[in-house]
Amino acid sequence: MSVQPDSIEDADLTLWAVHELSYGGFEDVHDLAETSPPVLLLRARLETDLEARLRDRWPGAQPAPTDVPAELVRLVAEDDGPSLAEHVHRRADLDQVMELLRQRSVYHLKEADPSAWVVPRLPVRAKTALVELLFDEYGDGDPNRLHAHLFAQGLEAVGLRSDYGAYVDDALPEVFEMNNAASMFGMQRRLRGAAMGHLAAFEATSSLPSRRMVQGFARLGLPTEMVRYYDEHVEADAIHEQTALRDICGTLAEEQPEQAGDILFGAFTCLDLEARFATAMLDSWGVAS
Ligand SMILES: [Fe+2]
Ligand SMILES: [Fe+2]
Repeated sequence: MSVQPDSIEDADLTLWAVHELSYGGFEDVHDLAETSPPVLLLRARLETDLEARLRDRWPGAQPAPTDVPAELVRLVAEDDGPSLAEHVHRRADLDQVMELLRQRSVYHLKEADPSAWVVPRLPVRAKTALVELLFDEYGDGDPNRLHAHLFAQGLEAVGLRSDYGAYVDDALPEVFEMNNAASMFGMQRRLRGAAMGHLAAFEATSSLPSRRMVQGFARLGLPTEMVRYYDEHVEADAIHEQTALRDICGTLAEEQPEQAGDILFGAFTCLDLEARFATAMLDSWGVAS
């Protein structure tokens, strides 16, 4: 079987579909497909290419960082990518917000799942902290507070579909790349540092933008169910940021110093892919980024 993709877009969509076999799967695909040798070979080939592309974009960390949480804070502070939340806060119209929600649904409907793969691969302190963070993401024991489910309820309230993958046909290449990177980092034990760095950057760039989304949604009169998802993240992610930076990434780097570089690689990749996605969205709306 040839595993040569026609294009990067073809590779991205294919890898998303292959990863999906390890999440919710597809109604018309047998569960055994997940571990069939040709599919595993295809996944390995596509992940190798994706990782090479992502590492090419990363300027690297020389010398190797000694204070990983401080380096992560610096990386996030220096991030100058365009802000979709700022656009939603002040200027976006309803059509643009609906488009953004459709694009975001590819990740938010399985929010936190890519990080959950990493739990068994972490040393004690980082594992405890990740599980504490994930417990929040998964609703603190209340299914109605599970973040992915909050987003699903929000989608239904605004008249969009909440079944996973409903808008995959409309997803931008940047959306697939964001999702594929998070899944690849989560699913490969070798990339546990990158997975946790990615999580830390994600959490550290969520609280303030979530507040802006809430304000933009209020301006546009969106239903409370959709506002609730973002409202939940204003406070939760201010806490998750600290947990991810210090208790997960900080302790992981202390106990496994060889992971320090990859923690920063994962964080950089998260910021870089979000910036690329934001630029693509703003460009499609004719908004200068
Ligand atoms: Fe969340
Ligand atoms: Fe969070």
